[in-house]
Amino acid sequence: MVNRRNFIAAAGLAAGATAASGAAPAQPAARKGRGALGRSRVWRIGSPPSIANLQLVTRDTPEPGRGQVLVRVVASSINARDRGIVGGFFPIGERKASIPLSEGAGEVIALGEGVTEVKLGDRVACCHFPTWREGRWSPSVYDNDVGNTVDGWLGEQVLLPASGLVVLPEAISFESAATLASSGVTAWHALFEIARLRPGQTVLTLGTGGVSTIGLQLARATGARVVVTSSSDAKLERVRQLGADITVNYRNTPDWGQRVYELTGGGVDVVLENVGRATLDESMQASAPGATIVMIGTGPLPKELPKMPGFYTRNLMLKAISNGSRQMFADLLAGMAAAGIQPVIEKRFAFEDAIAAFREMETSDHVGKVLIQHP
Ligand SMILES: NC(=O)c1ccc[n+]([C@@H]2O[C@H](COP(=O)([O-])OP(=O)(O)OC[C@H]3O[C@@H](n4cnc5c(N)ncnc54)[C@H](OP(=O)(O)O)[C@@H]3O)[C@@H](O)[C@H]2O)c1
Repeated sequence: MVNRRNFIAAAGLAAGATAASGAAPAQPAARKGRGALGRSRVWRIGSPPSIANLQLVTRDTPEPGRGQVLVRVVASSINARDRGIVGGFFPIGERKASIPLSEGAGEVIALGEGVTEVKLGDRVACCHFPTWREGRWSPSVYDNDVGNTVDGWLGEQVLLPASGLVVLPEAISFESAATLASSGVTAWHALFEIARLRPGQTVLTLGTGGVSTIGLQLARATGARVVVTSSSDAKLERVRQLGADITVNYRNTPDWGQRVYELTGGGVDVVLENVGRATLDESMQASAPGATIVMIGTGPLPKELPKMPGFYTRNLMLKAISNGSRQMFADLLAGMAAAGIQPVIEKRFAFEDAIAAFREMETSDHVGKVLIQHP
């Protein structure tokens, strides 16, 4: 049972929270010579890039360079964007990563020179944008985008930048933490940094995927009413069990925006727009006057551009976001630990079955997250 008071307190404290246990004393660097850390397996993006062409290879485990750590990965997780990165059609940032995935968690097993943020044995996750520590977003964060422009989590032992690491609270398991860097941080950013959600408000979250489901859990823990849309009645039943107050099947109800407006008695205060421009008209239709629509989804494109009048007639705020900062990740972990939130993981795959895990993301036959368990 979620303790709402603790959760709200944690969210309020969040501005000052830090996930790292403070600056640790400098540790001796792990410099032992080539191959000294043994050999380990990673999945590499193939050429040409495609899910079928992902390659499981064994390599000399690399030593961490200055500012880097080596992490023994316990679990990783897949996001919608990872399909695009592995398939060679993700539109943002020039892919330089050969190892995919922006979400994971594990244990620090070697430190490069100058690393003071963490120590050996720490349980860690890493920001999707390790150079965005706090404050405002900048386009330059894409120069260090884990799993896209720098190597990601899909290996037994991987190098990560120490600047992006967050130390996990005891209450957060490796598996839970492995699902948060992208979808969890994005939902937190949208609900608490942009929309400044308050108890008693109503949130609409589109679909039953990773961002939507953790968004539902965070919003409910805050004392908000939550509306979820899905193409599947079975998935809607599942999100009702997770606490959704109102559910609408968007496939059976093409004008679902009006339906949400009616069922909520005058519209929602916050929309997690997890699909994109294709659903924006309906999201505006579902909105109460003065609502905030946070643009999270990146596709698909609509046949026509969204109608603009809703912005004026309902005085809406429309704000796009790209993930979130390290501080937001720290605040998310503190809030989840206080509220006892466990992310929804419906499908688990062995590390050797990573291709099947990507296929599961394609079929979208799950609620919440798809996890990969590393050996
Ligand atoms: N801006 C950012 O920082 C950021 C961060 C993370 C993700 N994203 C983007 O956010 C989107 C969702 O990501 P994810 O990782 O949560 O994806 P996901 O786990 O693959 O979930 C996608 C979900 O979209 C839903 N959906 C598709 N068409 C819909 C429609 N017309 N109306 C309502 N729901 C619809 C589906 O719900 P049903 O199966 O229930 O119908 C599906 O579960 C992606 O476009 C992703 O690229 C952006």
